[in-house]
Amino acid sequence: MILVLNGPNLGRLGTREPDIYGAETFEDLATLCRETGRKLGEHVEVRQTNDEAELIGWIHEAADGRIPVVLNPAAFTHYSYALRDAIAMRTAPLVEVHISNPAAREEFRHNSVVAGVATGTIAGFGLQSYVLALHAIAEMNTTS
Ligand code: DQA
Repeated sequence: MILVLNGPNLGRLGTREPDIYGAETFEDLATLCRETGRKLGEHVEVRQTNDEAELIGWIHEAADGRIPVVLNPAAFTHYSYALRDAIAMRTAPLVEVHISNPAAREEFRHNSVVAGVATGTIAGFGLQSYVLALHAIAEMNTTS
């Protein structure tokens, strides 16, 4: 089981700034992640919330269940110390993902407060960022 967790505004993929985030919808993303999981022999559950408390609750759930996570924290990436503190309690790999490359965008996106407590970060490959992260987690599951 792998949880794919998404923060604010990612439910609006498809209509949200398509020049930056592409034309595919959140449902397309969820299908892509589940399909990737099927190929890797892993059950993948995809969730999205605009609510910081709910996202932190899901990170606690993953820690309690030793469940690996692919996380796109969206704008929380840049300022949520509460999310960072929750991730610091993780008990399984957590890969931070971004659709765009925040390092190539506005200054405020250059800092991730969660990167230092993630296993690693994949950014800038569109929806493929999630596919790469799922492969990385599947690889860690079989080699650890
Ligand atoms: C994002 C990048 C963030 O800076 C932004 O706030 C998002 C999406 C991405 O996937 O490229 O909401 O995490």
